[in-house]
Amino acid sequence: MLRVVVLVSGGGTNLQAIIDGVQAGTIRNTQIVSVISNNPGAYALERAQKAGIPGFCISPKTFENREAFNKAFLAKLDELQPDLIVLAGFLVVLPREMTEAYSGRIINIHPSLIPSFCGKGFYGLKVHEAALARGVKVTGATVHFVDEGTDTGPIILQKAVYVEPGDTPEVLQRRVMEQAEWVILPKAIDMIANHEL
Ligand code: GRF
Repeated sequence: MLRVVVLVSGGGTNLQAIIDGVQAGTIRNTQIVSVISNNPGAYALERAQKAGIPGFCISPKTFENREAFNKAFLAKLDELQPDLIVLAGFLVVLPREMTEAYSGRIINIHPSLIPSFCGKGFYGLKVHEAALARGVKVTGATVHFVDEGTDTGPIILQKAVYVEPGDTPEVLQRRVMEQAEWVILPKAIDMIANHEL
């Protein structure tokens, strides 16, 4: 069984896709051991609770400084002994100690076709606003390994999604989630758990 810890900050629809995949058996040989949020109000924590998965909040705001937060965060992860850490809409930049300690064992979902619309400042709706502003006809999502950079690690899976006339950032975000993110993130976990990468 692949022990997975999912890190979240918000609504958790990607987390839900993983939970559903594990329950349906489309993500094989995988156990979600815990969900960690930096945001106490994240609806993702409720999704975890409903699925019977232990959820924790570790917020940088409750620590004296970043160093103390990083230390507590890493200690919590070490305690959980994950084989794989999944960033599913996690908005905190990971400390270097973490990307080094878990090198090759952290993956992220990004809502564009990397290397377009990625890197510092490209998160959430901003990604889709930039895609629409540039007038691209195709966008999509990417699952990649996480290294010390922002969206720079090796690419695992990508899926393209068409931009439609009249799209708003919100409409495009939803389509990218439905057609790409919720498909390729569960698939990447299944591939890793079953040594198919
Ligand atoms: C997704 O668009 C993901 O690609 C991005 O943040 C969003 C998270 O959504 N990194 P959710 O919390 O999984 O609903």
